[in-house]
Amino acid sequence: MELLRSLAARIGVAVFVTLLFVLAVGLPANVQAGPPQLEEPKGGGECIRPEGWMRRNHMDFLKHQRGLTVREGIRVRSESLAKCAECHTSHTRFCDRCHNYVGVAPDCFECHLFPE
Ligand code: HEC
Ligand code: HEC
Ligand code: HEC
Repeated sequence: MELLRSLAARIGVAVFVTLLFVLAVGLPANVQAGPPQLEEPKGGGECIRPEGWMRRNHMDFLKHQRGLTVREGIRVRSESLAKCAECHTSHTRFCDRCHNYVGVAPDCFECHLFPE
């Protein structure tokens, strides 16, 4: 009986300490809502441009590629939106995480399908 009671007390303390820890560590992270968590690209390898360049310039890059294809009939398969989707397979867990964060909602995904 005595043993049980002290065990229960210890478990109680452990739970309490865990709760404190979760509050101390978890709350500020939630309140500050850090940068968006992006899904890891599939299949390894590297982006088709250096990562930092792509982060800053993908909008213009994509629009440029679209112009080439739609206006001039030039298709560069290795630089198409379908190509992005081979590695960034989910636009909701990659592209949209950033876009929601900065408050843009490009309509591309209505026509350009991503696998997930
Ligand atoms: C109403 C449907 C529609 C919407 C919305 C749309 N596209 Fe397209 N897009 C097309 C069609 C159709 C083509 C021509 C495909 C072809 O001929 O190969 C195309 C071609 C492209 C291409 C070149 C081919 C390829 O697969 O990469 C790019 C890049 C592209 N669009 C980017 C975009 C981007 C970026 C957006 C959002 C800002 C967007 N598109 C929105 C229909 C759409
Ligand atoms: C061969 C696979 C592959 C292809 C194809 C690819 N990417 Fe990437 N992309 C990556 C990798 C790997 C990274 C590095 C980010 C990481 O490790 O999380 C990356 C990074 C990025 C980033 C920066 C993410 C960040 O954390 O800031 C953007 C934006 C991006 N890619 C957009 C695109 C677009 C748009 C296309 C198509 C035009 C594309 N990618 C094609 C693999 C790819
Ligand atoms: C690292 C964050 C990040 C990732 C990942 C990312 N984007 Fe973006 N995207 C942005 C930012 C920031 C803007 C520009 C917002 C602005 O100009 O106000 C933007 C803008 C765009 C635009 C232009 C929207 C407009 O209304 O002009 C397109 C198109 C676009 N992104 C496509 C994509 C696609 C496709 C992917 C996934 C393959 C992707 N982005 C992934 C951050 C990201």
